[in-house]
Amino acid sequence: MTIIQNTIKDKQTSTKPIWLMRQAGRYLPEFRDIRKSNPDFINLCLDYSLSSKITLQPLERFNLDAAIIFSDILMVPYGLRQKVEFKENFGPKLDELNLKEILRVDEIDFIKRLFPIYKSIKEVSNNKLTKGKDIIGFVGAPWTLLVYMINKKSPKDDLIKGFFKDDFLINRILNVLEKFLKIHIEHQINSGATIIQIFDSWAGLLKEKDLPNYVYIPTLNLVNFVKSLNIPVICFPKGIKDYKKFCEIVNPSAINIDYTVDPSLILKEIKIPVQGGLDPKILLTDKENIKKETLKYLNIFKDHPYIFNLGHGVMPQTNPDMVEYLIKTVKES
Ligand code: CP3
Repeated sequence: MTIIQNTIKDKQTSTKPIWLMRQAGRYLPEFRDIRKSNPDFINLCLDYSLSSKITLQPLERFNLDAAIIFSDILMVPYGLRQKVEFKENFGPKLDELNLKEILRVDEIDFIKRLFPIYKSIKEVSNNKLTKGKDIIGFVGAPWTLLVYMINKKSPKDDLIKGFFKDDFLINRILNVLEKFLKIHIEHQINSGATIIQIFDSWAGLLKEKDLPNYVYIPTLNLVNFVKSLNIPVICFPKGIKDYKKFCEIVNPSAINIDYTVDPSLILKEIKIPVQGGLDPKILLTDKENIKKETLKYLNIFKDHPYIFNLGHGVMPQTNPDMVEYLIKTVKES
């Protein structure tokens, strides 16, 4: 068993595995090199040879315990024929959602559109760099994908006015998402993904009373599906106030915490394995501070099954030497 699987399934606490959200990405010069000659981000994700190469780039450099497939949560709206673009200094930009068009997409059509992702996972899992390590497949949670599909861009602090006005549309989309997210998850697993992470990056935008409808229930359906395939599932409901309640209701195999929550409180309140927490901005400071903050998390979770990670993705301006230092600190402690 891999050390992450040991942490999640056997609740071992003696070794702390590490991988990082956005470990493949713009902070690596070798990624920026490829990106320069590939201005279309969606096409880059659909080039299985390049996307598998990018996935492996951080494993070439660092002693990481998992690879996360280089792709994006917005490949699912793309698979559902909603146009998605990534603009520099703006982020994702989606076309107006067309329900009729989306409802016409069938499973065969969807898989054809996303097939290179599955091929990329196969390549990665056959590479010697991932031998004995986990391969993390992922999806966006239904709520976060709904946000992008209706809002058509990152919401920053708030949703567009009238976001909730069309109940019928919202329910249809959530239904479609549940169906196709399961398909996407299953194909990633069949291609070699050994863990699934569910990113709910905009869970924090919802009021408490709306969490059951948009977060708890749709996520629970996916979590139960992944568990039925005998694969661990890690949830990241970023920004929610009550991680304890989320864990009680959704009960994933492990929970990724964000950098705004107090890890000591999490240790007290949460029984399941924990992942992440360290503020990615810490990697922009100096080694002394990185060490101090890293040891803080390792210390708090020393007797708890814990996978070291950040409280959100590695930032583009991060110096790769600091990432190396962080990993070394975790491995040597
Ligand atoms: O290394 C990895 O973690 C794997 C690849 C990965 C990407 N996106 C690549 C990417 C993963 C797991 C994601 C998830 C993702 N994508 C999330 C959930 C996690 C989170 O950040 O909250 C979200 C919300 C998205 C949507 C998305 N994709 C945004 C908002 C942006 C633009 C902002 C940004 O960070 O650049 C992207 C683009 C994106 N996805 C890039 C990468 C490497 C940058 C593309 C570029 O080079 O311009």
